[in-house]
Amino acid sequence: MLEGKRILLIVGGGIAAYKCLELIRRLRERGAAVRCILTEAGGQFVTPLSLSALSGDKVYGELFSLTDEAEMGHIQLSRDADLLVVAPATADLLARMAAGLANDLATTALLATDKAVLAAPAMNVRMWWHPATQRNMTRLREDGVAFVGPNEGDMACGEYGPGRMAEPAEILAAIESLLGAGGPLAGRRAIVTSGPTHEPIDPVRYIANRSSGKQGHAIAGALARLGAETVLVSGPTHEPTPRGVRLVPVETAAEMLAACEAALPADIAICAAAVADWRVANAGAGKMKKVEGVLPTLSLVENPDILARLSRRPEGRPALVVGFAAETDDLIGNARAKLTRKGCDWIMANDVGPASGTFGGERNQVHLLTRDGVEDWPAGSKAEIAERLARRIAAALGATPQGGGRP
Ligand code: C5P
Repeated sequence: MLEGKRILLIVGGGIAAYKCLELIRRLRERGAAVRCILTEAGGQFVTPLSLSALSGDKVYGELFSLTDEAEMGHIQLSRDADLLVVAPATADLLARMAAGLANDLATTALLATDKAVLAAPAMNVRMWWHPATQRNMTRLREDGVAFVGPNEGDMACGEYGPGRMAEPAEILAAIESLLGAGGPLAGRRAIVTSGPTHEPIDPVRYIANRSSGKQGHAIAGALARLGAETVLVSGPTHEPTPRGVRLVPVETAAEMLAACEAALPADIAICAAAVADWRVANAGAGKMKKVEGVLPTLSLVENPDILARLSRRPEGRPALVVGFAAETDDLIGNARAKLTRKGCDWIMANDVGPASGTFGGERNQVHLLTRDGVEDWPAGSKAEIAERLARRIAAALGATPQGGGRP
């Protein structure tokens, strides 16, 4: 089901545009709200009236329509949606998307969005095989755009080959899979912390650590793919935001705690961030001056322990709270002590000794500690570990009612 999901459907100018009418009906039957942008060329194939009758909403068309801009800016239009669907995605529309143009409302919304984009290409077979179109497809795939079709078959223009737009049922299935609808974590809410924190010394200097955010970001992506509504609270990293995840960027531990608490209630909380243990008590409002021969004294105070705070909430504690233990020696012993000390349900213990290459690296070796024992997981990429953790969580919560007790 797509209950409560909001789809922004961008209808391009191709003969297959008529299939969008059927797509809108099917989306609405499944509980999704559909809002349409009709390109100028799209308006040659379907009318705004049909789209608005079926979607039950206003149809947006022109970039510089003052009334539309007053009611809803184009940025808002794309941010309000959970997913943008371009169907039919004509050769021209794909080219403009690949080039990052924003010369009409459709491309402006596509450029302004922070949401996943699904495109259903539709064009003549020669246009499809043209190197320019194939180049644009490669570029768009690299940019993270998902595709459904095109299918092979007879074309409206009398030729045969790939270029037919995918059928509404296929587009619907792609939408459901991108939104994680029907996934084992559909209807669950997750909070994931990731990355380092930066604790200011003064406005230009800070205390930080070497966390890349790779593992935390991968976990957020894996949870979203299984259908969890996922908030990623992350310190500064270079990692791209995984598809379908809401990022809340923070810098300090205090900001990270506030953002996590603001994201509650949640069924799942995973603390993968390398939170600085201390912050500078006497952080200066102005830049500290270097004085010849005088060494500054930094006095430190302890940061809040986000994992312990979430684990020990008297009310509204997430059903499953997972922490990480990065240790260089007595991995399992230290991790077990941490499980008790922090009050969380599971600990992912990983060896971060200098030889392990875990920090900033692609691979990881973990042991999952639960209250029942230790699972030694095979070494894998951070993406594989994330995938496995997400599935393990889905299995553990499967037996628990939503918003219910601990697994
Ligand atoms: O105490 P230690 O830093 O070793 O614990 C690691 C675990 O606790 C990680 O899951 C980390 O995200 C979490 N943590 C936290 N807030 C802190 C310190 C650690 O959430 N201030």
